[in-house]
Amino acid sequence: MPALPARWLAAAKINLALHVTAQRPDGYHDLESLVVFADLGDAVSVSRADTLSLEVSGPFAAHAPGGPENLGWRAALALDRAAGNGGRGAAIALSKEIPAGTGFGGGSADAATVLIALNTLWDLGLSNRELAGIGAPLGADIAMCVHSRALLAGGVGDAIEAVPGMPPLSMLLVWPGRSVSTPAVFRALTERSNPPLPKLGADWLRTPAAVVDYLSGTRNDLEPVARSLEPAISDALDAIAATSGCALARMSGSGAGCFGIYPDMDQARAAAVEIGCAYPDWWVRATLAS
Ligand code: C5P
Repeated sequence: MPALPARWLAAAKINLALHVTAQRPDGYHDLESLVVFADLGDAVSVSRADTLSLEVSGPFAAHAPGGPENLGWRAALALDRAAGNGGRGAAIALSKEIPAGTGFGGGSADAATVLIALNTLWDLGLSNRELAGIGAPLGADIAMCVHSRALLAGGVGDAIEAVPGMPPLSMLLVWPGRSVSTPAVFRALTERSNPPLPKLGADWLRTPAAVVDYLSGTRNDLEPVARSLEPAISDALDAIAATSGCALARMSGSGAGCFGIYPDMDQARAAAVEIGCAYPDWWVRATLAS
C-alpha cells in the first residue's frame, strides 16, 4: 500500500501589534511586529513524485492559484535550487481552509509550510533558519511563518526573534468578506516613521492579561489606512469590541482580517457564535494562539 502523504498545518499568523518605523529606499517598510500563530490554518500535504505539481482545494481554493503561479510552487523551486538544483519532484496539495489576502498569513504560511514539508520529504536536513533565508526573498512574511511560534519581527518582517514562554491567547479571528491590497495599504500610509514597539519587560508575558496590558501601549499602524480604504474593517472591529469579555480588538497585518483577545476560550467561542449569527457572511473562528 502506498504511504499516505504527510500533512502539515500552515498556521494562520496574527500580528498582535505592527509598528511601521521607516520606509526603505527600495520602497519596502521597516516594521516591528509581535506575532503569534493560530491553532488553525491551511493544510499542506506532500508526497513523492517525479515532477513538481501543486493542487489547491478547500473552502477558499478560489483565493489561490494552483500550479507555478502559487507562492508554494516558487518556494519549492527555490528550495530545490538552494539544495543544489536537483530538479526534485513532489506532489503538493494545498487545502485552503482560511481566507487568503486577509492579514492572516495565507500564501506566506503555505509557502513556509511547503519549505518545511519538502525539507523532510527530500531529506535535505536544512535548519529552520536556512529555510527562512530561502523563503524571505519570495515574501516578507515567509520567514516568520517558518518559525510559526510567538516572535518579534524586525526588518521588513524577516528578522525574527523568538518570544519564548508567551502564554496561549484565547482569540477570535474575523474576516468581513472584503479584501484590501497590501501594496495599496502601504502606499496610502501618511506617517511612515512611527515609534518602535515598547521594550518587552522581564515579566510582561507571564499571563494573557499581562500581554493585553503590554498591547495597550502598541498599535497596528496599518489599521487607520486600511479602515479608510475598506470600511468593512471598522464594522468588524466594532462588532468584536462589542462582544462580552473582549479585552482588545485590532486588525492583523494589512487587513482586512481582525482579531479579538478574550480571558478564556469559552468567551472567545461565545463571541464567535454571537458574531457568526449576526454576520452570517463573515468568516469567524475562535482559536488558541501562541
Ligand atoms: O513581501 P510581500 O509580498 O508580502 O509584500 C507585499 C507588498 O507589501 C510589497 O510589494 C510592498 O509594497 C509592501 N510591503 C512593504 N513593507 C513590508 C512588507 C510589505 O512596503 N515590510
